[in-house]
Order: sequence, then structure tokens, then C-alpha cells
Amino acid sequence: MSKQVRICMIGAGRVGKLHSGTLKRYVPDGDVVALVDPVSAMLNQTGDEFGIDGRFPTLAEALDKTDFDAVIITTPTFTHRELTLLAAEHGKHVFLEKPMAMNLQECDDIIAATEERGLLLQLGFMRRFDPEFVAAAERIFGGEIGEPMLIKSLTHGPGLPPAWANDIRTSNGMIAEVNSHDLDCVRWLMGSNPQRIYLETANFKGVERGAHAEHFYDNMFATIKFQSGALGNISGVCPCDYGYDARVEIVGKNGIMQIGSMQGMDVVVCINRDQGLITPIYRRWPERFAWAYIHEIQHFVTCVQTGTKPKVGGEDGRWAVASVLAGTKSMLEGRPVLLEEVLDPAWVVPWQKED
Ligand SMILES: NC(=O)c1ccc[n+]([C@@H]2O[C@H](COP(=O)([O-])OP(=O)(O)OC[C@H]3O[C@@H](n4cnc5c(N)ncnc54)[C@H](O)[C@@H]3O)[C@@H](O)[C@H]2O)c1
Repeated sequence: MSKQVRICMIGAGRVGKLHSGTLKRYVPDGDVVALVDPVSAMLNQTGDEFGIDGRFPTLAEALDKTDFDAVIITTPTFTHRELTLLAAEHGKHVFLEKPMAMNLQECDDIIAATEERGLLLQLGFMRRFDPEFVAAAERIFGGEIGEPMLIKSLTHGPGLPPAWANDIRTSNGMIAEVNSHDLDCVRWLMGSNPQRIYLETANFKGVERGAHAEHFYDNMFATIKFQSGALGNISGVCPCDYGYDARVEIVGKNGIMQIGSMQGMDVVVCINRDQGLITPIYRRWPERFAWAYIHEIQHFVTCVQTGTKPKVGGEDGRWAVASVLAGTKSMLEGRPVLLEEVLDPAWVVPWQKED
């Protein structure tokens, strides 16, 4: 029998709950033996819901008082570097939620801390494990639509994410919090790194929803030129209010491919011929990517058991952060920005500069 993987879940919020539920229901080889969150109400609510007895306010205390093989980090982006470095210092393998970090220096520190000790690092880009995205990727890489020339990717989320995620200073804004997934996906599916990005943003609902942070935006449109010469665009809307919508279209030299649809379920109702067909849309991201979240956690547990490098790791996370930084610089300066302008790890967005 394979060795049981003991996991410390860091963060008991939305994603901490999602991954705890996945491990309990779908990954018999993985056990959440510790849960960490400084907010005791969250800690106890999630601990009770998933029957996790080891509960700690800090990772340091969990490391001191219990034993585990790996951590799953589901905390706000600005905490990722510190938590990964502490876990790595104690020899723990790391599953880290996207976005990897706030800047490239933090990404490099995370990569170095895990690589130096031979530890595994998997990034939470679950679309790479979604059955539809995986099938599409295999068919693109198999040459079915020919060389990819153009890609359009969109993510529209139903509601505002938590307050820290709406403050560009603690999250790097919607391009990081929502559209990181698109940034990773377009690079993966096109088989090419981004070369230049131009980002336009708009704010339609922020004020009425209480999102007052400077530079807050709830609509974005990014145009990307890839190193291969191909073109792409990414659109983001959050909150869109109508459901969770994630779709991609790729045009190759020989044809076109579409991934995803607005229809969330194969149940269609008609009770009024004037109104027509009613079909449900996915309500939230845990529904749309249910299998992707299960497969990515199963993959991580198998990688820890077998010592195999995860399919999506530090370099992928770093490219997505670089795209976030170039996009943000583009928004602030109102011009297209080359990725090479932000690739120096010392480059940070203005609000991260020390006085
Ligand atoms: N993969 C996805 O589809 C997806 C979806 C949503 C969010 N995320 C990412 O997951 C992460 C968490 O997002 P969320 O929506 O769950 O946020 P959340 O605010 O709901 O939960 C975060 C939790 O972390 C806790 N926390 C803060 N600092 C901590 C620390 N130092 N140690 C332990 N716990 C700490 C908070 O108290 C909170 O309970 C972010 O990186 C976010 O971008 C990924």
C-alpha cells in the first residue's frame, strides 16, 4: 500500500475548506492532520466541518507540535513567501495556491527554498488538471488545429472576493486574483512565453459594492503578444453577477478549438415557448472546476508519495506573476509593456517600494 501523506492545511478560508473537503472525500492517501489559521472562528468552523483535530494559530506552532509531510498553502498572496520558506526550512513539500507571490524576488526565494532542499513545489493552477482543458491541450500539442495563431481566454466571477483580494496593495488586483488562471493557461496552451502585454481596466460596480481601494477595477482586458509571434487576449469581469464563466477559443493554422461553455449542466427546461430554453450556468468556481480541484490534489499527493516533480510548478507560477506585473505597469503607465521590463527581480510595483 502507498504511504499515507500527512498534510498541514494553512488557511481555513474559502480554498482551505475546498481542499480539506477534497482530501476527505476523494483522496484516501492524503490526511489533513493539522489546520492553521490565526482567526479562531475560521479555524474551528473549518476544523469542525472536516473533522480536523490538530488546530493551530500559526504554522510555527503546528511545526512544533505535530508531524506532517507537506503543506497546502491557501492564505492571502502577501503571506505566501514567508509561509513557504518556513515550511521548506522544516523539510515539508509545498502545494501553493496562485498567485505564487507579490513579486519576482518572492518567487525566486520560494523556488530556491524548495529546490535547495529537494522539496516538491506545486502551484494551484487547477485548469491544468481539468478534463476539458487537458483534452484540449493534448489535441493542440498533437497538432490537430495546426500551429496556434491566436487565443482568447475569459474568466468572469460572480461576486467580489475577500477584502484583501480587492486591495491591489495586498493582492496585485484582479489580474492576479482572478485572471492569473488565464495568464497561466494561455502560456501553456500556446506553448510560448508572453513577450508584451497591454492592459485596459474599468470600474463599474466597485463603489456600490464597497470596494474603495485605490486603483480598484472590476473589468479588464489584456492584449498579449507571445514570443512565438502569436496573439492573445484575456478578459476579466468580477463581479459579473450572472455566474462563473471560464471559456477559451484558440485559432490554429488548420482550425479552431473552443474549451468550455456557458451551460453549467446538461439539464435544459422549457415551460414557456416565448421564453425558450432555460439551462443552468455554473454558479461558482468550485462547481465549474470540481474535477480539476480533485485531480490537482490527487496529483500532489501522488507526487509526494513517489517523489515525482509536479506537472505545474515554480517556473509556471513565476511567469504568471511576471505577466501580472507587466500588466499592472501597463495599466499604470497607459502603454504596452514588454515582459523584459519587469523580469529583473528587483522590479516591484510602486506601492511595494520601501520608503
Ligand atoms: N485556485 C483557485 O481557484 C482559487 C480560488 C480562490 C482563491 N484562490 C487563492 O487561494 C488563496 C486564499 O484565497 P481564499 O479565497 O481562500 O481567501 P480567504 O480570505 O477566504 O481565506 C484565507 C484564510 O487565510 C487565513 N490566513 C491569513 N494569514 C494567515 C497565516 N499567516 N497563516 C495561516 N492562515 C492565514 C485567513 O485568516 C483566512 O481564513 C489566495 O492565494 C487566492 O488567490 C485560489
